[in-house]
Order: sequence, then structure tokens, then C-alpha cells
Amino acid sequence: MEVIIVNDYEQLSQRACDIIVEQVHMNPESVLGLATGGTPLGTYRELVQANGNGKIDFKHVSTLNLDEYIGLDSSHPQSYRQFMKRELFDAINISETRTYIPDGRPDDLEEECRRYEALIEAIGPPDLQLLGIGENGHIGFNEPGSDMDGETHIVELTESTRAANARFFDKDEDVPAHAITMGIRSILKSKRILLLASGERKARAIKRLLQGEEDANFPASALLAHPHVTLVMDQAAYGMK
Ligand code: GLP
Repeated sequence: MEVIIVNDYEQLSQRACDIIVEQVHMNPESVLGLATGGTPLGTYRELVQANGNGKIDFKHVSTLNLDEYIGLDSSHPQSYRQFMKRELFDAINISETRTYIPDGRPDDLEEECRRYEALIEAIGPPDLQLLGIGENGHIGFNEPGSDMDGETHIVELTESTRAANARFFDKDEDVPAHAITMGIRSILKSKRILLLASGERKARAIKRLLQGEEDANFPASALLAHPHVTLVMDQAAYGMK
């Protein structure tokens, strides 16, 4: 695992943007795996700016998001589809038809899982997968105890993950209880993984990850088996502040 420690969130966002810009320069038809949550927001802001300045062209890029809440229509403001539109897609020159996110309200959940996994194979796998890390070590929505060899599936969110994500909703009880997520195996299919961690509240998870032992109770540890992971974190996530 390549580990890059930067001073703060600004630098982290800039560095992550640079890595993505480099990837798309190398291959203008890159498939990018994208993530939601607070951590990638700065990266998306930098990418919007870079796109505006002509430093990156998304015309031939495709994207595959990690996960979506179950029960939220794709037009719901807190759905990950709307999150991605707001924070990135609507502000860059990407064709919406090339942006893929699981459907949070399919007729058949199992069928949707199969469809999305097949899509990862057909469109991807991503050349680069952007990833955040939950305080309990979850990646995507693969909570502790997940099948380390799982593909796209439905999960029940833990109380701690629902609480951590409650800040995006008006009321705590509005936070969905289930999600559809790429499995750990689906995530590991990516050619490169760019893992971002910012802030003190991630320090424990990062410390555990860097201890370097694979453990199903700590899903992020599955990344240790991947040949090309770049972890960019700020000093606070490294426990230096
Ligand atoms: C959510 C997302 C994850 C994300 C995690 C951390 O649960 N499904 O993809 O990595 O939150 O979020 P944040 O970046 O806001 O700390």
C-alpha cells in the first residue's frame, strides 16, 4: 500500500484530484469508481474546477458508484444519485448516460444486485476506485462481519453508520435502514484503489488498517490484499494532531 500523508483536508482533496486527472490523461476512456460521504466532497470540488480550467475532460469517462440507499427514489435529495449530480455530474462535462449508480428502488432487489455486478464486469472494472472509510472500517456499505468475498448485495446498516450519516437527513429516523452496495470482492476488482481518510474521527480505523491484519470484522483490511492501493490521508487521520 502506498501511503501519502498530507497536512490537511485541502491538500488531501488536491492530491486526490491530481491522481484522478493523471488517470484520465493516461486513458481518456477511464472508468472511475466513485464514492459518497463527506470525504470526497473536496476532491469533487477540485475536479469541477479542473474540468472548468480544461485540465480534465470527462467526455469519454464512465463512472460506477459504490452504493445507494434502499427505499429512496433516485430523485430523493439524499439519494446518492442526487448527491453525485449535485456535487459532480451536473458541474462537469460527463454524459449522464455513462454514470452508473445502483437503483435504490428496484422491483426486485436480488435482480438489481445481479444486474449491477454484471455492469461492473461489462463497463469496468474501474481503472481507479475512489474510496472512503467508515469509522468502524466499513467500505462502501460493507459493514463489519461482511463476507470478505461478497459481490453486490443488500445490507442492513449498523446503528453507528446510520448515526454517522444522520447529518445528511432532517430527522434521524429518515436515515434508511438498508442499502445496496458493491461487495468487497466487487471493490477489489478495480485496477487501482484510492482510499481517502480525513480527520481525527478516522484515526482509529486508519491505525487498525495500518496494523496490517486481514479481519472480517474490519472490512477495510480486505484492501491489504489488493496490489495497487494508494491511501491519502491528512495528519489528523494519521493521529498526528
Ligand atoms: C458512507 C458511505 C461510504 C463512506 C462512509 C464514510 O457510509 N457509504 O462510502 O466511505 O460513509 O463517510 P465520510 O466520508 O462522510 O466519513
